[in-house]
Amino acid sequence: MKLQNDLILRAARGESIERYPVWLMRQAGRILPEYRAVRSKLSGFKELVETPEFAAEVTIQPVDILDVDAAIIFSDILVVPEAMGLEYQMLEQKGPWFEKTIRDEQGLKYAETGFDVEDRLGYVLEAIRVTKKELNGRVPLIGFAGAPWTIFCYMVEGRGSKTFSESRKLLYTNPTLAHELLSRITEVTIQYLKAQVKAGADMLQLFDSWAGILGTEQYAEFGLKYLDKIASAITEVPLTIFSKGAISSVEAIAKLDCNTVGLDWNMDIVKIREQIGETRTLQGNLDPCALYASHADVELSTNKLLNSFKSRRHIVNLGHGVYPDIDPEKVKTFIKTVKSYEIKY
Ligand code: CP3
Repeated sequence: MKLQNDLILRAARGESIERYPVWLMRQAGRILPEYRAVRSKLSGFKELVETPEFAAEVTIQPVDILDVDAAIIFSDILVVPEAMGLEYQMLEQKGPWFEKTIRDEQGLKYAETGFDVEDRLGYVLEAIRVTKKELNGRVPLIGFAGAPWTIFCYMVEGRGSKTFSESRKLLYTNPTLAHELLSRITEVTIQYLKAQVKAGADMLQLFDSWAGILGTEQYAEFGLKYLDKIASAITEVPLTIFSKGAISSVEAIAKLDCNTVGLDWNMDIVKIREQIGETRTLQGNLDPCALYASHADVELSTNKLLNSFKSRRHIVNLGHGVYPDIDPEKVKTFIKTVKSYEIKY
């Protein structure tokens, strides 16, 4: 199936584009009343994730309603630890919760590898196939996974945390165990991402949401090392690496075999472009809170971001996922502003 709009794929590869492509992290779910309508018919988040027809429906909603240049498959990064042996629950108002955690060698029995990924995560792959069919070539479909370090954090901690101190503790008290667990997550993630491509994903993104809680040296040892393995293994489609908060590691990330580096809003796009040159596409990085401002101010801050670009190698996005209480009309203003901006390069 030929894509009618492949702007984001061309931008990722550094090819010529007629305008900057735009999408939003966490665009599926969270902000749209249409999402909540589908969600309210079901028992909860997991039923939505595990029912391919519903997952496809909410994946396509932002394409229909917000007019973004890419869809991202509706799923969660936590499906990988679950497939490895740690079942999760999504608690209302609280977020993810795992009954079991991994804090010693015995816990490794909940970190299986060598199973059939296409079987255990078949529901995500089916959702990708259904979505591709229903998108009918309108825009590319982004597949994703959590980066090993971020998945490690949930497997060790068992829930969200501000500090992830149990996870960081393990790096000091049992680095051998930490490396074993990270290697296992990496192995399964590579198989999972490749299966997503086989099912129809046109590009892939790794979310390293907790990259910023590690110091530079530790991130190199426990984060980048495994991102490198994944980036080297993924050769089929463009890959984006988004390491939130890892300001001092951006240059190192840009040296990995990826197409695009995702930036959060603390990262200086002009400085980073100077550091890395034209070797990689940059994605981001409007502060998600900028969308709380008036429509006129959303337009101003979006244009300011666009004016900071010194080349065509950009994919426009927020610096992190869109917040749940943002007015979808503000998101539309953001997207329209990007789409009407005349590219200078
Ligand atoms: O981008 C998209 O819209 C596609 C779907 C998607 C979800 N989660 C759906 C979801 C994606 C790409 C994710 C990634 C994800 N999940 C990350 C990395 C990105 C980031 O924001 O840093 C992380 C850390 C998670 C783990 C997770 N899932 C948490 C902490 C929570 C609870 C808080 C929250 O974000 O809402 C979730 C739940 C979740 N995942 C929801 C959605 C739409 C809300 C569930 C609901 O409908 O009640």
